[in-house]
Amino acid sequence: MNLFRRTITAVAVVAVTFLSYAQLKGSKPDAQPVNHPVPAIQDTETPAQRDARMEWWREARFGMFIHWGLYSIPAGTWNGKQIPGIGEWIMNTASIPVADYKALAPKFNPTGFNAHDIVALAKSAGMKYIVITAKHHDGFAMFDSKADPFNIVAATPFKRDPLRELAAECKKQGIKLGFYYSQDQDWTAPGGAALKTGDHQPPTYHWDKAQDGSFDTYLQTKAIPQLKELLSNYGDFPVVIWFDTPTKDMTPARAAEIVKLLNQHPNLIWNNRLGGTYKGDTETPEQFIPAQGYPGRDWESCMTMNDTWGFKSYDTNFKSTETLVRNLIDIASKGGNYLLNIGPDSHGIVPAPEIDRLHAVGKWLSVNGEAIYNTKPTLFGAEAGSFSPTEKEKDGKPKFIPAWNWRSTTASDKIYIEIFNWPGNGSFHLDKRPRQVTGAYLLADAGHKPLKLKQSGSSLDVQLPTQAPDPIATVLVLKTSR
Ligand code: GLC
Repeated sequence: MNLFRRTITAVAVVAVTFLSYAQLKGSKPDAQPVNHPVPAIQDTETPAQRDARMEWWREARFGMFIHWGLYSIPAGTWNGKQIPGIGEWIMNTASIPVADYKALAPKFNPTGFNAHDIVALAKSAGMKYIVITAKHHDGFAMFDSKADPFNIVAATPFKRDPLRELAAECKKQGIKLGFYYSQDQDWTAPGGAALKTGDHQPPTYHWDKAQDGSFDTYLQTKAIPQLKELLSNYGDFPVVIWFDTPTKDMTPARAAEIVKLLNQHPNLIWNNRLGGTYKGDTETPEQFIPAQGYPGRDWESCMTMNDTWGFKSYDTNFKSTETLVRNLIDIASKGGNYLLNIGPDSHGIVPAPEIDRLHAVGKWLSVNGEAIYNTKPTLFGAEAGSFSPTEKEKDGKPKFIPAWNWRSTTASDKIYIEIFNWPGNGSFHLDKRPRQVTGAYLLADAGHKPLKLKQSGSSLDVQLPTQAPDPIATVLVLKTSR
């Protein structure tokens, strides 16, 4: 998967800010595989086997993250106080005692949850997979677990297993399902890890004696048995296990115990957050789009629509449809996937602003999906922006200033140009074109009426209609011969 690196070295000088691609080559592909106590599939498979395993995921480009759990009941407020930060961290941020948090379970009766509707929503948004929190850091399992009674079937009046219902619907509606599982942090199981926020005291960061215990016991009696349940009880799913927040407790030897289990599921894809030096399959930039993707690595930007993953009743800071669509395009142009979050409330209802935006993104994709799914990254690169000559990131490296005029994605016989800022002079101009262009049209034009082209030397001009057909992003298709 060295494609992006290869393509970005094919320097193209385009009609936007020029920058040298030597500058853009920051991150290196993986170092040599580490000597793991138990080799993971990534350590042993051939590149061809890996391509086959990752194929559906690379084609998918767009998935739904679902953060849903007991934290949707307090929804950001505890004892009458609005608790800052992300909603699913409320137990930690507000230092809620274990017994008080566990007392939420008997109140959890999300009868508005409807697996059919959620899967249909993902599909209407043009998403190809769903990843749902099977257990978040609060330790509450959103599935039927025999391994631990603190779960939605055994401990709530609801008694249903949403993961089972989602699995059935995903199969029926032809979309894939993965499970997020917090393997390391568990704030209600004795011995589970807790990362520090607020004033929790080191060394354990536990804020309640009930959290103290042996991490190994937690792993052996809860995390590993629950992962086994998740990997065995849901038919064709999960296709993804999404780990999170490994701490120093997750040593290579401990992670190896989990890897043994993962190795029994040779088609499974898992992310880079297991810990214990295992790199997994995917990089997981959180709440940002990496300036240059991750050359040599598969990656997925996970993002919220407002400022929280788990539902917070008063977080209404929703991104615009324009931002969401352009994020998706930006990510695809750099070769990544977009995992966009919804946070259902305590009744199981998806907030209306999230539904509205997903429908709008889906509408754009229904016209322009060809330019996103199963495409390769840009053949250009400079259109993404440039490094500031003066401003620096926190780490001292030059700051990347994104440009938002257009992006590009690639197919074997086409170059897609997703135009954000409609050129005022009615023409799209490239100084250099990486392939011979044989024709051009707009994806939004069902008749594919040919647009006038002018190619001279290495440059290209395409005559566009005076008005942008789509103010968010209009896709110009350049038909190419290789
Ligand atoms: C973080 C948070 C978590 C969230 C995750 C999503 O690491 O701990 O609450 O689930 O990001 O990427």
